[in-house]
Amino acid sequence: MNTVDIAITGATGMLGSDLVPTLENAGHKVWALAEADCDITNADSVTRVLDGITNLKWVINCAAYTAVDECETKEELATRINGEGPGILAKYCAKRGIPIIHFSTDYVFDGTKEEMYNEDDKTNPINAYGRSKLAGENAVKKACEKHLIFRIQWLYGAAGPNFIKTMLKLAETKRQLNVISDQLGTPTWTQTVSNAIVYVLNHTPTWGTYHLRASGQTNWAEFAQTIFDCAGKQVRVLPIASEEYPRPAKRPKNGVLSTYKLLKAGYPQLPHWHYCLEQYLSKNH
Ligand SMILES: NC(=O)c1ccc[n+]([C@@H]2O[C@H](COP(=O)([O-])OP(=O)(O)OC[C@H]3O[C@@H](n4cnc5c(N)ncnc54)[C@H](OP(=O)(O)O)[C@@H]3O)[C@@H](O)[C@H]2O)c1
Repeated sequence: MNTVDIAITGATGMLGSDLVPTLENAGHKVWALAEADCDITNADSVTRVLDGITNLKWVINCAAYTAVDECETKEELATRINGEGPGILAKYCAKRGIPIIHFSTDYVFDGTKEEMYNEDDKTNPINAYGRSKLAGENAVKKACEKHLIFRIQWLYGAAGPNFIKTMLKLAETKRQLNVISDQLGTPTWTQTVSNAIVYVLNHTPTWGTYHLRASGQTNWAEFAQTIFDCAGKQVRVLPIASEEYPRPAKRPKNGVLSTYKLLKAGYPQLPHWHYCLEQYLSKNH
């Protein structure tokens, strides 16, 4: 295995918090940069900080503005962080001849496709967060040929507020809960993504965009019921339609991402979401 110097921006976020120790444990020298260390929307900050890392071999961007509903009223800010920031980082990487890994989302799609989404399917975001993330993908592609964009989804991790924590909190007071059942996707643990990135650094695929998620698929109601069952909570989930739980940002109905492109490149299938959930719960609750 090659041990290399890697800079991670947004290092204290949900994904960054798992990715940093995972890469360190894999033997890499990690420069964990929080927003206070390196603001990705500020080209001077990016240049000053990254110029200070002599042997830099990879930049991994975990920085983002991920409050999906808030993005509806703060689209300018979302576009700056999710759209322009990744472009600034990618431009820096191109100048230095180093590759960038960037994360995007299934929210770049409108969710109307009947089957799983492939990487080259037509994008058509239906909310401000999705538009800002699509802008980020395009900025990275345009600025730096050596890029890997991983679209991930339904992410949860110990460091963030996440769906599992919300459900377990509700289980303290509720015995019955209405949860949306008409949005499809795959819950994916930050640790699963982090392990996959270790593999990526050792088996770098052709530059481009890839879908990366746990195996299997589900809907939020089934996910919630599985969380309660795994955690031994006596809560019954009643499936409802999205329209019965309106939120500021529309969500795509079908967000299931095909991972065939990575499998075809020789990558192993990632573990099933149900197995990952059990692992997460055994470590965190
Ligand atoms: N969460 C999900 O369900 C999900 C789903 C699909 C894709 N993704 C993508 O996965 C990646 C990681 O998401 P996450 O859930 O780990 O996000 P997160 O927990 O919100 O973390 C994002 C980090 O970025 C930092 N940040 C914000 N603005 C910044 C700036 N201008 N410069 C540098 N850092 C900045 C934040 O710092 P502060 O907190 O101090 O602002 C935070 O530490 C993102 O690209 C996200 O779009 C997430």
